[in-house]
Amino acid sequence: MAEKHKSIILGITGASGTVYGLRLLEYLLSQGTARKRTNSRLRRTNDRSVLQIHEDHEDDENAEVEDCEQSPQGYVVDVVFSNNALKVSKLELDQDWEGLNVQLLKQAVLEHLFKNSTALDIDAVKKRVNFWHESNIAASIASGSYQVEGMVVSPCSVGTLAHIALGTSHNLISRAADVMLKERKKLILVVRETPFSSIHLRNMLTLSDAGAVILPAIPAFYHRPHSIQDQVDFITGKTLDSFGIDSDLFKRWR
Ligand SMILES: Cc1cc2nc3c(=O)[nH]c(=O)nc-3n(C[C@H](O)[C@H](O)[C@H](O)COP(=O)(O)O)c2cc1C
Repeated sequence: MAEKHKSIILGITGASGTVYGLRLLEYLLSQGTARKRTNSRLRRTNDRSVLQIHEDHEDDENAEVEDCEQSPQGYVVDVVFSNNALKVSKLELDQDWEGLNVQLLKQAVLEHLFKNSTALDIDAVKKRVNFWHESNIAASIASGSYQVEGMVVSPCSVGTLAHIALGTSHNLISRAADVMLKERKKLILVVRETPFSSIHLRNMLTLSDAGAVILPAIPAFYHRPHSIQDQVDFITGKTLDSFGIDSDLFKRWR
């Protein structure tokens, strides 16, 4: 019997750094997806634009397609953009995704992430991702009965942080996060703000005490970053680490 893919919920809010959430989505969907077996790799160069996948095809004639169902590494991702995240992605990435229904948003985001990828089977990728509107409180992910490994909010605004800390369930992101806490599932919050006020710090402590992982988007330099992409990959790799997913997105210390 084919192994069931693990499910992860990804909330993307209106803090600066939509790229963090998008990079995580790109990584999760590229794991265990049917792929032509070429010498593909992510090139990290200074002049590449953030989130562009470059693939080498040195042996296209011998390319084989792997069955994604055979891979234990595959993930199903449930994605919720807050309305404000769509505003910020327009300002930061020049992507005008506001006003799209969830199906068109899914199409636009996947095209943005995988438009240069000729190695991945995009139809297989599409089957492994669901997009939900932030107002859809009847979505499956709003319920504790939904089978899911856990949730990441990346980037997490201090506004959404406050909603989760207070348990307001004001939209699908804070509701799904609330469910993670009550069900004792993983909840990782990639908070982005600087400086932090006492209110932010108190909310973070409240959530840490409740079982969430507070993983602020604070860059490091011990891995010798050369580009913005390296810094995005560092935060994404640390997020994956917190989820228990091994990746080679950044160079570990020694
Ligand atoms: C360009 C831009 C950058 C922003 N950066 C941040 C940020 O880094 N952290 C933050 O908490 N809010 C930031 N905000 C403010 C949030 O978008 C705002 O508080 C919003 O209400 C958050 O809503 P959400 O949590 O539902 O997405 C930014 C807003 C804009 C327009």
